[in-house]
Amino acid sequence: MNGTIAETQELLNSLVSGHKHKDNCQVVVCPPFTSLETAGKILKDSEIALGAQELSEHKNGAYTGEVSAEMLLTVGVSFVIIGHSERRQHHFETDQRVNNRAKTAIEAGLSPIICVGETLAQRESGETQNLIKSQISGALQGFSVDDFKNLSIAYEPVWAIGTGKTASPEMAEEVHSFIREQIAEINNEASENTPILYGGSVKPDNAAKLLSQPNIDGALVGGASLVADDFLKIINAF
Ligand code: PGA
Repeated sequence: MNGTIAETQELLNSLVSGHKHKDNCQVVVCPPFTSLETAGKILKDSEIALGAQELSEHKNGAYTGEVSAEMLLTVGVSFVIIGHSERRQHHFETDQRVNNRAKTAIEAGLSPIICVGETLAQRESGETQNLIKSQISGALQGFSVDDFKNLSIAYEPVWAIGTGKTASPEMAEEVHSFIREQIAEINNEASENTPILYGGSVKPDNAAKLLSQPNIDGALVGGASLVADDFLKIINAF
């Protein structure tokens, strides 16, 4: 929940002018709903894609306050974050609802970025792998081979989001390779091709080390994406 329309406009104009094409590098920005239409216009002829931070699992109708996939498509959105830990924590987002939303997104032609990750208490009590396993299998339940084509997973340890504490590259890599194994159990072919992003206090000075790990394919950046220069440095580190 950062940025008025005017602030988003300023940020994206700097981003678009500073961004240079890179092979195999997809940049996506996911501003709040109110800024999406303006953002869509700014990004229209750029290489930066537009994403939303949430969508409704329902197509349309009496769901006050919700925003549908169709509404997102009309303003140029092509990606959507699903199951961010803040949604899970404050908005009762269960694995079942994450699964419903991911399916709704895929059916509409949107690419979901599905977030998973453990809290500090879960890590300290040795539950990380079990939790990730159930979040992945819950989120991807009933997915066909085709459903995997435009899907990304983001591993975001809850204790590292917005706290300045980052998982060490080795710690993150361990979970990323575990996630890839879990995807392989559902669909072997998809596991190689599914981008697995790391999120949680990614900054210009730690991005290169994180992104050089074999199973870290990208980053989901929060705070540092609010400063165009920092976000551009992270893209360049990739
Ligand atoms: P952060 O946020 O980069 O500020 O830790 C990550 C996120 O909100 O997903």
